[in-house]
Amino acid sequence: MTSTTLQMDPISTASTAWRRGLATIGLALSCMLEAGLASAQSQPKPDWSLADMPSQSGRIFLVTGGTSGMGYEDAKALAAAGAQVVIAARNPQRGEEAIARIKQEVADAQVQFEAVDLANLASVQALGERLNATLPRLDGLINNAAIMSPPQRDTSADGFESQLAINYLGHFALTSHLLPLLRKSDGARVVTLSSIAAKRGAINFDDLQSEQAYNPFGAYAQSKLATLMFAFELQRRSEAQGWGIQSIAAHPGVAVTSLIERGPGLDSEFGRNWAKDRERYHSAAQGALPTLYAATATEAQPGAYYGPIGEEEKRGPLGLASVPAAAQDAAAAARLWTVSEQLTGASYR
Ligand SMILES: NC(=O)c1ccc[n+]([C@@H]2O[C@H](COP(=O)([O-])OP(=O)(O)OC[C@H]3O[C@@H](n4cnc5c(N)ncnc54)[C@H](OP(=O)(O)O)[C@@H]3O)[C@@H](O)[C@H]2O)c1
Repeated sequence: MTSTTLQMDPISTASTAWRRGLATIGLALSCMLEAGLASAQSQPKPDWSLADMPSQSGRIFLVTGGTSGMGYEDAKALAAAGAQVVIAARNPQRGEEAIARIKQEVADAQVQFEAVDLANLASVQALGERLNATLPRLDGLINNAAIMSPPQRDTSADGFESQLAINYLGHFALTSHLLPLLRKSDGARVVTLSSIAAKRGAINFDDLQSEQAYNPFGAYAQSKLATLMFAFELQRRSEAQGWGIQSIAAHPGVAVTSLIERGPGLDSEFGRNWAKDRERYHSAAQGALPTLYAATATEAQPGAYYGPIGEEEKRGPLGLASVPAAAQDAAAAARLWTVSEQLTGASYR
């Protein structure tokens, strides 16, 4: 360092003062921004329950994977609140059984089943075409269906790794097909299910389909990180393009459903470990609350992520879920969106 730089001449003193001033303004601005964000995403009522749900009479919802687990509870609660509900899943028999069960509890439920295989883009497109031809609009889309950690790598009809295909790419394509219907609604919401598994996920752009190496849970975590990034990116794009759609993410914590049984299996090491704590997890009905809050509460915030906030976010009262750093990377989310458009041929216009 030279003596010139050490010397406190008037210009450097002035520029130091100027820099300090800028730093102070920057700090104040960032505090204001944080305060603004905090108020934009205020905590929900921690004990929010179905009793707090506003009437959904006159509103039309689609729930993917509404035949079991959280999706079934979503469909039942929305129907009980007066909504018209479309359950979309693969198996018509399970669909009919779900509808019969809902009608036992909600006699006047307006609920119908539509077959879709999210592992088949032609099936997803066909559902989009059927709904665009028959529904006047769509007020809520709940991107809920998923599979978890099949031990062996499998592929969709389109050649994608199954978890990425069903959990993420199928919903990416479905949402694009339903965009015209969503835009016809006055304030439609798209609620997309993520998971605490997303915290352990990474988007492997060099091997998105796990062709080079398949780790069952790693592929699940990637798919759930992808759905979370999608939810945030959809909100940004809706704002930028004026679509008038609110995109919100949710996760159930850990809930007792058929996800493990139909995925890694209850006999697997994962399944046995999971079963040890089974009685401490949420029921499917409790696990559905963050989604139902996101889909219906008037105070739910666009671009927010809701889930239980007790015990590492596995269970507990409703709150704002912590967002993994990877899901805050808007550049990566934009890149993933472009790759997803290329893979699925979906177009958001
Ligand atoms: N359970 C948990 O602890 C937990 C934790 C974190 C996040 N989540 C998330 O919560 C959501 C609901 O999971 P869940 O636990 O309720 O699971 P679940 O009981 O296994 O239900 C999954 C649903 O997805 C449907 N589905 C699966 N593959 C499909 C396909 N190819 N096309 C169309 N539908 C398909 C199934 O329908 P059919 O088989 O009848 O077609 C079923 O209705 C998922 O997004 C999951 O990732 C769950």
